[in-house]
Amino acid sequence: MNNFVFENSTKVYFGEGCVEEYLSSLIVKAKTIMLAYGRGSIKKNGIYDKIVSILSNSDKTIVEFDGIMSNPTYAKVQEGAELAKKHHVDMILAVGGGSVMDCSKAIALAAVYDGDIWQDFWARQGVISCTPLPLGVIVTVSGTGSECNGGAVITNEEAKIKTGKDYPQLNPKFALLDPTYTFSVSKTQLLSGGFDTLSHIMEIYFSTPDMDNVSDDLAEALMRGVIRDLRAAVKNPQDYTARSNLMWEATMAENRLLKLGKMTDFQAHMMEHQLGAYVDCNHGLALAVLHPVYYRHICSKGIAKFARFAAHVWDIDAFGKNEATLAREGVEALADFIQELGLPTTLRELGISKDIPLAEIADSVPLTAGGYGKLTHEEVLQIFQTCF
Ligand code: NZQ
Ligand code: ZN
Repeated sequence: MNNFVFENSTKVYFGEGCVEEYLSSLIVKAKTIMLAYGRGSIKKNGIYDKIVSILSNSDKTIVEFDGIMSNPTYAKVQEGAELAKKHHVDMILAVGGGSVMDCSKAIALAAVYDGDIWQDFWARQGVISCTPLPLGVIVTVSGTGSECNGGAVITNEEAKIKTGKDYPQLNPKFALLDPTYTFSVSKTQLLSGGFDTLSHIMEIYFSTPDMDNVSDDLAEALMRGVIRDLRAAVKNPQDYTARSNLMWEATMAENRLLKLGKMTDFQAHMMEHQLGAYVDCNHGLALAVLHPVYYRHICSKGIAKFARFAAHVWDIDAFGKNEATLAREGVEALADFIQELGLPTTLRELGISKDIPLAEIADSVPLTAGGYGKLTHEEVLQIFQTCF
């Protein structure tokens, strides 16, 4: 394994009833709490009422910040930071999925920083020397794993850049994960989040170094789990076992543990992020379209690993097959799974028109070096074109 330093400062409370049991004890020091959430799902499913009642019974002043959109924008971050400064907020409580958590992490920094956080921390990797506002998160849709890392993916609409940076100082202080909170998530978003988790694991697994290592072993177990649990949750959305496994698999995939000793690839994510910057598409669904096309493209450069993926993750019988055939069958098993679940297989199905400036988008995609051969921008364009 490569050398590494591991740190994860988020304290996790997991299981049915954890919000009622622990939230009040986690906010004792705060006087004014910014309650950050999305576009209303938590009001429909009753989560909002539960949380407001706990905050009110604890005599907290609540500053509401709502309307956080999927693919949160830098403008929304600035709006939240202004509000936090105006009301002297001393803690942020983010209730939602990756978008709400990411936006809240950036607000936690922007609310205490005098400069332009986009320029200093997202346009390039910066060094955080101030102390961001403390952040707690309550996850209502699982998938991104944002609850247990310092990563925040923000879209700068003017610059047409969607990018994420991971700062340990932005790790939530605590994360409350009640799987029953995800029962009301739509099938589309369940699939999107589940595929996002699978994508994170694959982006780490299909990268160097490839000699036997703990991270790859864990990755295979987690991929098998996501496949099993996604099938079960689609069949029965109220299946607590499936929902709780999916929730923890999402956290495990992005709490930095799996990445230890690996280069990581994340080329599919870079492609999705820039598509998202231009057309505001759903993160997990776009990844489902991109992955098989990308993997067919690079399979010949990572034959041994794709063959191992076929045998260890999809249980494909290797008998009588050469490695290249087995490798291709592994990629096709992934594509079949995507079809079986009803995930999209073309960008057209996501409502994306071929008239978008594809070459310009392809040119804006950062090229990563940890996978099997660095792509060129022409290859990224070719992959985008094949996705239609
Ligand atoms: O906005 P509301 O009304 O709350 O509805 C949301 C939204 O429409 C809905 N939802 C959430 N909880 C629900 C619910 N609907 C019913 N019942 C509930 N309990 O779900 C929809 C999607 O929410 P969103 O937060 O946008 O989805 P997701 O969690 O997939 O987050 C996507 C964002 O996270 C970034 C993505 O790029 C994207 O911007 N990512 C963040 C990462 C990180 N910080 O580590 C890593 C990922 O790779 C990813 O890039
Ligand atoms: Zn993702």
